[in-house]
Amino acid sequence: MQYNESEFLIETVVPENELIISRTDLKGNITYANETFCEISGYQESELLGHSHSIIRHPDMPSSVFKELWQFIQDERQWIGVVKNLRKDRGFYWVKAIVSGVYKDGVLVEYKSLRTPINYTEKLKYQKLYDKIREENDEKRRKIIYE
Ligand SMILES: Cc1cc2nc3c(=O)[nH]c(=O)nc-3n(C[C@H](O)[C@H](O)[C@H](O)COP(=O)(O)O)c2cc1C
Repeated sequence: MQYNESEFLIETVVPENELIISRTDLKGNITYANETFCEISGYQESELLGHSHSIIRHPDMPSSVFKELWQFIQDERQWIGVVKNLRKDRGFYWVKAIVSGVYKDGVLVEYKSLRTPINYTEKLKYQKLYDKIREENDEKRRKIIYE
């Protein structure tokens, strides 16, 4: 498929009244994605299941944010944060995510994430913050491979 750079600038606005839900195994491979997740990310369910959650990682996201996320959830603490995600069509969408463990008989078996929209002011604040963190950490933008 052909992509051009302008598609990378297109935002998908997350609806107010729906939750974007996914679950992963303990390594971060997707085991469940709800219909809203598929719609907003632009992937079919079959393209997501079994794949690493980093399939929707946006290059604007600093690595340190995900490092913190994993530290929290591996310590069995809930992580709440703002994430810019990459759509299949190279567009993006912003969410506030609550990531935590899924327990069976008191044993941690999976992780889950529930996501809701954020407003324009928050998007602007986090875009600037993440740009600054990436710059401070001398992080290169991840290269987008155009198929
Ligand atoms: C339940 C759960 C949900 C996650 N949701 C996202 C997400 O929406 N977007 C994202 O980029 N990473 C998400 N991650 C983090 C990814 O596993 C991964 O750490 C991140 O994309 C960075 O990928 P990389 O380390 O391969 O660069 C999630 C992890 C878990 C456990």
